[in-house]
Amino acid sequence: MHRHSQETERLAAAILAYAEERFRLDPVPLDGAKPHDELWQLAGQTITEDGMGGEAALALFGDVLSRACLSIDHPRSLSFIPAAPTEAATLFDLVVGASSIYGGSWLEGAGAVYAENQALRWIADIGGLPDGAGGVFVQGGTLGNLSALVAARHTARTRREGPPPARWKIAATGGAHSSIATAASVMDIDVIPVEPDKEGRLRGDGLWAAFDGADTDGLFAVVATAGTTNFGIVDRLDEAAAVCAECGLWLHVDGAYGAAALAAPSVRHLFAGIERADSFIVDPHKWLFAPFDCCALLYRDPELARVAHAQTAGYLEPLEGGEWNPSDYAINLSRRARGLPFWFSVAAHGTRAYTTAIERTLEVARYAAEEIRSRTYVELLRDPDLSVVVFRRLGWSPADYYSWSDRLMKANFAFVTPTTHNGETITRFAIINPRTSETDIAAILDTMA
Ligand SMILES: Cc1ncc(COP(=O)(O)O)c(C=O)c1O
Repeated sequence: MHRHSQETERLAAAILAYAEERFRLDPVPLDGAKPHDELWQLAGQTITEDGMGGEAALALFGDVLSRACLSIDHPRSLSFIPAAPTEAATLFDLVVGASSIYGGSWLEGAGAVYAENQALRWIADIGGLPDGAGGVFVQGGTLGNLSALVAARHTARTRREGPPPARWKIAATGGAHSSIATAASVMDIDVIPVEPDKEGRLRGDGLWAAFDGADTDGLFAVVATAGTTNFGIVDRLDEAAAVCAECGLWLHVDGAYGAAALAAPSVRHLFAGIERADSFIVDPHKWLFAPFDCCALLYRDPELARVAHAQTAGYLEPLEGGEWNPSDYAINLSRRARGLPFWFSVAAHGTRAYTTAIERTLEVARYAAEEIRSRTYVELLRDPDLSVVVFRRLGWSPADYYSWSDRLMKANFAFVTPTTHNGETITRFAIINPRTSETDIAAILDTMA
């Protein structure tokens, strides 16, 4: 297994050919989940004492298993927040996989960490964070949010004078991503609910009203969202920053989806105030065209995060004094250098290409909004801030949405799922793939007529 042989040569050629063929598909087949029983019929028992051989396992993956996975990068995959990695980023993922890089410490992965940090620096620059800002690429927005809030609470604990509060607390609107409630549950802290304005945005006066009506002892952070998942709404980060500055609170900005648009001049003004955040996240595996899984977690003052997160033990002492140990900035130790595919693509294409690609998706989102307005059987719920377009099909029940969505997927045509808002079932397009065209949008809307 660990010797290079003729079999390895054959397998390498087959795997590279598979990857090349996947790149040539335009579009890729949408595919989709199959029931376990059907997979058992098709794939059967795959793990045996003698093994089936690499080429047979690859064939099984290509013919059966991969076909039971949805192609999230399909141009009509518009559900949740999809992904659309660049070819350069995906190709470089093969290199990262082949390179056995340990990305947790400078001692072991200095070159990779240097490159990842340059990619983080670009994100810090478009966000307007100061020179000293820094962080780490973690697995996803969920872990990024949790790690940032753990750093925030650690900072509050350290600074607090007197006895600890009965409960530690954060403040957020109901538009915050589900991972914020999960983080609160993991940390055993409370969430003070903040009423958004009519546009669904967290505002300064909403924060003050929430604080007036709550016991704020133990409140240590405000979570603002730069691009909510359901609607793509950008909170008023400037107002949140002002309140946080006045109250001595940590401002965490969840830009997992939306903060990619910091690179898009047409909407950059919506993010005013993000430069005052104590921490923010953006997932390159969403709208910054990197493969899964990759969340950029940035801190204004990374030292606060390091003291909260760095693990200590005798066997870790050789790592101390490393110029930058990424593992010290989140809840992780061993880590894949998962920022490298993103770094490679940005290094290869340059940042202007990112601006162009993100602006293109915004253009298609604006087209979608206009097209929905122009059709009598659908109704736009809100002008999109970014590239999530939410609408209702007049006269449809929840069951109608589900059977329509199912039909589109089974026909290999599109992946568009329902969502709910205020108890109503509706649907949405999350447009982050520069391959998604106006024609795709019109074709999907036609199926609702
Ligand atoms: C605003 C927001 N925050 C956090 C997350 C969680 O990110 P992940 O799925 O990478 O954990 C998402 C996912 O869609 C999101 O949209």
